[in-house]
Amino acid sequence: MSVYFLGIETSCDETAAAVFTDELQILSNVVASQTELHSRFGGVVPEVAARAHLQRLLPVIDESLKHAGITLQQIGCIAVLNSPGLVGALLIGVSAAKMLAVALDVPLVNANHIEAHVFACRLAAQRDIFPCVGLVISGGHTSLFECQSPLEFKLLGATIDDAAGEAFDKVASILGLGFPGGPAVEREARKGDAKAFSFPRSFYKDERLDFSFSGLKTAVLYTAFGQDMSQRRHTLSEKMRADLAASFQQAVVDVLVRKSLQALEQTGLSRLAVGGGVAANRCLRAALERAASEHHFELILAPLSYCTDNAAMAAMAVEKWRRQMWAPGDLDAVPAYQPSQM
Ligand code: KG4
Ligand code: ZN
Repeated sequence: MSVYFLGIETSCDETAAAVFTDELQILSNVVASQTELHSRFGGVVPEVAARAHLQRLLPVIDESLKHAGITLQQIGCIAVLNSPGLVGALLIGVSAAKMLAVALDVPLVNANHIEAHVFACRLAAQRDIFPCVGLVISGGHTSLFECQSPLEFKLLGATIDDAAGEAFDKVASILGLGFPGGPAVEREARKGDAKAFSFPRSFYKDERLDFSFSGLKTAVLYTAFGQDMSQRRHTLSEKMRADLAASFQQAVVDVLVRKSLQALEQTGLSRLAVGGGVAANRCLRAALERAASEHHFELILAPLSYCTDNAAMAAMAVEKWRRQMWAPGDLDAVPAYQPSQM
């Protein structure tokens, strides 16, 4: 008989709950986005996010149980993504998870949000995807991992400043495209010329597997408005805005493809799994697909519904449950990324 898991995710601005089984069947995946609360600030306000999680989490859990067609009493394990993220936001999910595990007298298992973005590819593939190189591209992280198994993630490189998603959000703000920036820049880029501006591609020729997107963002700002902010032009022509979006997106895509190829070469692995919000970008997906057919590696892209934050990816915790690696009773919310330990 299947064991039912309740997954909880509250690391940033999505309140999410999912029900899945020990065979990694996803029975429900409910995400309540807070975009409407944060858009007027142009970014996620941590305190606002935490309060909204508090109001929304229990109704979201109820909805996930209803969609799955089961009751809370049938849940056999609670899985929570307790790190990394905004500490106040994470705490709401972690507290609810601990409370439910005690009340239902079932085990509590935790997993890492960043690593779970790679595991989203495993859910979609419906078969083992390990070993692989994992590329996680989100609003807070841009990281490459050597993943020998679901519980063995070795960090190969990461951004030294802005994350790729953060760069999309900031460039959207520079171009006056609103929040969240990724989908808005992608839409704008479709109208523009990706070769109009030659933007920096950091560490492109370097062996190291790190990223840097902060200089790229500044290059977009200076190209749009010049270096003297007091002379800042108030409007950009439609063509200029579209060309800037397309050229910026191309620079990000080129770097992500290049570093993925280097990671595959350096590890000797032949499979790439890509997750996180930026993995929803169609230009990037097409470029990775071209690279996979040219360089003969297997590409596993998280499906669009699993790219941005969700609780189905907490199914990574099933791997710990199999090994009886329960979370401690005093499990904490940990804001910074810490690699999982076997
Ligand atoms: O993984 P995610 O939902 O949250 C974090 O863990 O950070 O990623 C959110 C990020 C945001 O920065 C958003 O602008 C970006 O993913 N994003 C995109 C696209 N959709 C979301 N970036 C580029 N193109 C997209 N289509
Ligand atoms: Zn995420």
